[in-house]
Amino acid sequence: MPNQRDAGNGTASRPIPDRNGHASAAASPLRGDDRLGRNGRLIVVSNRGPITFEVQRGAPAGLSGDRGPGGLVTALAELGRHLPVSWVAAALTPGDVVAAEALAGGYAGARVRRRPSSRSRPVRGARIRARVDALIRDRLPGQDLRLHLVALPETVFEPYYRQVCNPFLWFVQHLMYSPAYGPNVDASLLGAWRSGYVPANERLADAAVRAASGIHGPLVLLQDYHLYLAAARVRDRRPDATILHFTHIPWPPASVWQLLPRGMRRAICEGLLGADIVGLQTDRYASHFLDSVATFVPDAHVEPDGRSVEWRGRTIRVRSYPISVDPDGLRRVAGSAAVAERLARLDERVERVAATTGERPALIVRADRIEPSKNALRGFIAFEALLERRPELRDRVRFVAVQAPTRPGIAEYERYAAAVREVVARVNGLAEPDDQPIWLYDGSDYAMAIAALRRADVVLVNPIVDGMNLVAKEAALVGDRLPVLVLSETAGAAEQLAADSLPVAPADIVGTANQLERALAMPADERRARAGRLRASVREQDIGWWINRQLRDLEAIRRGAQPPSRRLRDTIRRVEPEAV
Ligand code: G6P
Repeated sequence: MPNQRDAGNGTASRPIPDRNGHASAAASPLRGDDRLGRNGRLIVVSNRGPITFEVQRGAPAGLSGDRGPGGLVTALAELGRHLPVSWVAAALTPGDVVAAEALAGGYAGARVRRRPSSRSRPVRGARIRARVDALIRDRLPGQDLRLHLVALPETVFEPYYRQVCNPFLWFVQHLMYSPAYGPNVDASLLGAWRSGYVPANERLADAAVRAASGIHGPLVLLQDYHLYLAAARVRDRRPDATILHFTHIPWPPASVWQLLPRGMRRAICEGLLGADIVGLQTDRYASHFLDSVATFVPDAHVEPDGRSVEWRGRTIRVRSYPISVDPDGLRRVAGSAAVAERLARLDERVERVAATTGERPALIVRADRIEPSKNALRGFIAFEALLERRPELRDRVRFVAVQAPTRPGIAEYERYAAAVREVVARVNGLAEPDDQPIWLYDGSDYAMAIAALRRADVVLVNPIVDGMNLVAKEAALVGDRLPVLVLSETAGAAEQLAADSLPVAPADIVGTANQLERALAMPADERRARAGRLRASVREQDIGWWINRQLRDLEAIRRGAQPPSRRLRDTIRRVEPEAV
């Protein structure tokens, strides 16, 4: 079962709010017909599709399927309820490969990449196709969705996904390398670029072009770091398309990209300039992107307005669209039986502590993947420093850490998880489970993560850098106890939420300990005021706001008008780090 919290994002479904920002289950606020024209379908292209299929013995037609994990899928999975969507994605699992063949018009029982066994029984194509359709209907109900899965040969998929995307691009963009040791752009990586990343982008772009055939002036949404080269190819084949590429992860400063070979960094920038709009999570990442273009693309001209690029006779807009959560779906999850069951377990444990110490312990909560960029290690070290300074807190506070394993097989992740375990063991020592300062829970249990966030007094979100970080937004919505948010200044979410949270610099262990201490001691009226403002801000700028701004801008460009969205800093308070 894939990890449903890969990006710390909710999995709930939701109605998309209308143009005034009001959520409504009844209306279809995106007005698909207006925006897409007759026979129009929105074309979405991503590496991971909305459903992950698995070959499963005993399941009908040998196939099961579930919502794909991670922030990208969570953000886009409900689109098809509001607009006709054709979604193009890579086949990632053996089940996806089977589904890809069935969707492409028949499963012939041919030998394909990553099939569990070349001797598996040939199954009739029609049965598999019916099963795939049923799974799509069941997992994404009420949607007008056409799924196109692209089965890349292993010789392309492996270098594309396992060498270039993860770890290389992910590590570069999350500043996860120690530059003295990496990245090493050696012959193997250059080979992976040429024989994996480039052809994978071509094939996914070509599939998007096929999906758009028969659509006049298609709107195309390309997603994330897997597809930096796709926009140029789609434009080349469909000059009438209006294309938005959105990067979900951070865009680091040009000085970071400068470590990479010229040809590669320029290809990435020029690939993106094939789009009409380059979308980033925050104003800061948009500025970094514009600076990268100015530095690496000699014939591009960044306009002084800092919002567009002139390149080879075209204007490319650069905009920030901070991704968000689905408040109504999240409310449903938070009130679900699964969460109630986890709450009961957590409450019992808290009460047992209260029975021995005479007071309910305050809960500091974190909920994320054990992903080095999430910075759990420094979070625990900061907590340890706080307990050393204030030993009486050992009785009065517990740190509930809901931690999901992720990306097994990448050595850096394994080393990091071991380092985290070591610090947790040191802090907890030989104490009995309830007396241990850090309570660890398995974060692949999404209900547990939401239960912990509901009971949090303080939520610690201290990534080294993060595209957005939706845990910060989830915490603002579901917290029952007016949680104080201790938030890294370098999380994308800080651009919207820093003013009402306690900011920390990710490497600042003393500062993090100070902010945790301050959060634990914060008077109720201040907590209430901050929590109220956080909640209002997340509710207003929710997932519907995210997608609607993109579609409105695309539509404006198709009409030849200026895309209307403004800078975030025009509408959102700037980050004001507090003096500590
Ligand atoms: C997280 C990030 C996405 C990214 C995805 C890739 O969800 O938020 O930006 O696309 O990870 O993960 P995957 O498991 O699909 O490789």
